[in-house]
Amino acid sequence: MGERGNCETLVHGAGGILGQASQARADAVVVDHGQVVALGVADELRREWRPREEIDAAGLLLLPGLIDAHTHPVFARGRAEEFDWRGQGMDYLEIAARGGGIHASVAALRACDEAELVDKVAAHFRRMLAHGTTTCEAKSGYGLSLEDELKSLRAIRAAAERTGMQAHATCLAGHMIPLEHQERPEHYLDMVCEELLPEVRRQDLARAVDVFIEAGALDLAQARRYLERGRELGFALRVHADQFHDLGGTELAVQLGAESVDHLEVLSDAGLEALALGGRTYAGLLPAVPHFLRQKTDAPARRLLQAGVPYFIATDFNPGSCYTPSLFEAAHFARVRLCLSAAEALHGVTAGAAGSLGLGAHKGRLEPGYDADFLLCDLADVHHFGYGFGDNPVRQVFVGGQRIR
Ligand code: NIG
Ligand code: FE
Repeated sequence: MGERGNCETLVHGAGGILGQASQARADAVVVDHGQVVALGVADELRREWRPREEIDAAGLLLLPGLIDAHTHPVFARGRAEEFDWRGQGMDYLEIAARGGGIHASVAALRACDEAELVDKVAAHFRRMLAHGTTTCEAKSGYGLSLEDELKSLRAIRAAAERTGMQAHATCLAGHMIPLEHQERPEHYLDMVCEELLPEVRRQDLARAVDVFIEAGALDLAQARRYLERGRELGFALRVHADQFHDLGGTELAVQLGAESVDHLEVLSDAGLEALALGGRTYAGLLPAVPHFLRQKTDAPARRLLQAGVPYFIATDFNPGSCYTPSLFEAAHFARVRLCLSAAEALHGVTAGAAGSLGLGAHKGRLEPGYDADFLLCDLADVHHFGYGFGDNPVRQVFVGGQRIR
């Protein structure tokens, strides 16, 4: 028998391993230098590898660390009062028109000093990690001024370092026109395009820019200006569109080569066709949002999948339209409301999400060469993924082969 290779860790005794291409039976993973180096049956792997440490998974299911590709974790307080207003019949846009909604979050964030904000974002990241999210896309968008957007993006970076969350920051200065610029929105866009975005690029504070194309937020022409400037500065583009009104945002996103267009509850046939023909822009499905907002319509997920459009599923974690840090919960809504299978839902919160962030070669799967970000979960098998709700099946969380929870 040949020499056994040294390695850091052997995780053995898993009840099953999800997120691998091979259908062969496997109950163990070999980890070295923060990456998966082999998968298989423990006894066979022990003949080839000499691990420094062994971890007994005790029959738990091994899953790739989940990836939440759409979150708004930089907020200073929740907006629970709006939840009651909604119960009394007010809709999202009416609440915003009354000075609630995003503007209320902007006022709270501006009043919060940076150290306190970092504590809050770190607390959000810890809750996400506890629910199995090891990588996330994290948006600013409640600052909407030069200083407050930079403060928000710095808070993402600091909170990621503090907690171990692998956060990929997105500048959402196009979330809304702030109240002080409502009369002259172009003044706000001038500041964003000529000062803020170049400064974000200079300090390398975000990899992408994002915009909310909606009645009461940015219109199509404003969004085009913002996104074109972002693209010119080398940012990836992500877009919120077709949540309540079809303003042509999906078509714009595809035309500008955006990596994702998210929400899509009122996606038109033309929008769907543009996504299918473009073939590169991911559909970001956020199925817990219509639940939270009591919206009747859902994104046409089955038609998108049928048309071969790449997709991910995310929480949209934020104070106004989806207050959950749990991708298991989002997967549950994907199965109930979007009629996705367990395997499709799992893809949406792992490999699909990784692909939308340009991380598809390193994250979202458990295969040799992939980062050893994984979870041990109290789930019987893949069919249980997104089946239960109101319960957290995560028992242990590993990032880069290191146990962090
Ligand atoms: O993705 N749609 C716009 N932005 C967020 C909600 C933000 C808020 O209400 O605070 C979303 O749903
Ligand atoms: Fe969002």
